[in-house]
Amino acid sequence: MTLTNADVIRALRDVSGAAHVLEDDEARARYGMDRTTLVPPAPCCVVRPGSTAQVQAIVRLAREHRIALVPSGGRTGLSGGAVAARGEVVVSLERMNRLLQFNPEERSITVEAGMITAALQQHAAAHGLLYAVDFASAGSSHIGGNIATNAGGIKVIRYGMTRDQVLGLEVVDGRGEVLELNRGLVKNNTGPDLRHLFIGSEGILGIITSATLALRNAPGPLDVMLLAVRDFASIMDVLRVFTRAIRLDAFEFFGHNGLERVLERLQRKAPLGAEAPFYVLLEFEHQGADAPDQVMRLFEQCVQAGWVLDGVLSQTLAQARELWLLRESMSETLARWLPYKNDIGLRIPVLRAFIERAQALVEREYRGLEVVWYGHVGDGNLHLNVLKPETMAGADFAALCERVTHGIAALVRDCGGSISAEHGVGLLKKHILHYTRSPAEIEALRQIKRVFDPAAIMNPGKVFDP
Ligand code: MLT
Ligand code: ZN
Repeated sequence: MTLTNADVIRALRDVSGAAHVLEDDEARARYGMDRTTLVPPAPCCVVRPGSTAQVQAIVRLAREHRIALVPSGGRTGLSGGAVAARGEVVVSLERMNRLLQFNPEERSITVEAGMITAALQQHAAAHGLLYAVDFASAGSSHIGGNIATNAGGIKVIRYGMTRDQVLGLEVVDGRGEVLELNRGLVKNNTGPDLRHLFIGSEGILGIITSATLALRNAPGPLDVMLLAVRDFASIMDVLRVFTRAIRLDAFEFFGHNGLERVLERLQRKAPLGAEAPFYVLLEFEHQGADAPDQVMRLFEQCVQAGWVLDGVLSQTLAQARELWLLRESMSETLARWLPYKNDIGLRIPVLRAFIERAQALVEREYRGLEVVWYGHVGDGNLHLNVLKPETMAGADFAALCERVTHGIAALVRDCGGSISAEHGVGLLKKHILHYTRSPAEIEALRQIKRVFDPAAIMNPGKVFDP
């Protein structure tokens, strides 16, 4: 039996209580979108379950009546994975934000999916431990969303992606079954590990309700160095020199035009005397009294080779924070120009050749448009942001960027990379997924979706078409 919207809302109220079903325009607009702006939100309503049992009841209802569900975390995504544009029910996990278990002897923590990433980081820090995934939107993103998108960020070079932190997952799959995946075990060799299918699945297989995550011993004090670098190729030389000598916690880069916009917005002075096309931000544990000059020697080596034009090493925590602010403010600063984003993942040895070819392509195809490069170059992740000129119509800009993106995706494929390193596929990248995932892989993904979501209710239309 097909239910009307009113029937759906009534049934959802029975499950989660009337106060937790929102149907006003403001709530539908707010919960129906993420940080992308290309697709306008239009959900039927928003439901905010308070327990796994309620999530299960919602999924069972949806399965029975073929109601499309869009799982929703902090909605900080950049690929439209949490956009509800076709009358779906948004299932917000925000009420499910409790700490369930903390095991210091195992260095693990179990939390509900709606816990804000920064809150998890704070719980860990309060016990001298570290939750190692970090990025600029940690203050609003949810841990469930981080897992569903396999979030990356600024510490991947040392600690890996979100996938590398997940010890166990509780999910409600699209059949309405509650699955306990890996139950927090470090060792569990009992066939294929279904946990990994749900990490990065962007809500198309089910809803993550809680997770057990690995914590690390907190690192010692961290120093930050900002370098002005002659060209992109030199960034790779600097990376080679530093990674061979010291363990890096971060190795980020950004272009000069991005820095200029950040400085203007933050009302800051240029951090270095010399201007350069690119800047590299490195973070590493303080080297201590036995190796006081090591970092300076590496810096000198890079200057003498002509790769680095200038640099600064933080002397205080406040200075380190100021340097990080330049990198971490990039995304928010550029948001004003409604940037079209490519999120490219490559192996380190091909970065140099890729960027040469990509820069030539971008100069040719985006003539007159401003392009800002930044990203986590130390783990092979480049963010290419094309700024929309104020005078250009949104539709023309999107059409141009989508066309050029095919060329970029082909180049990424030729270089053995991925069309999405950490932002996911969602709605915005599914037209280019085939460049870096084979037809056989995509068909296998379709079949996996059918197993966990036979009624095709889980975030339909995301990642790939049915
Ligand atoms: C970043 O690296 O700043 C984030 O991935 C966000 C973005 O790319 O805009
Ligand atoms: Zn990033």
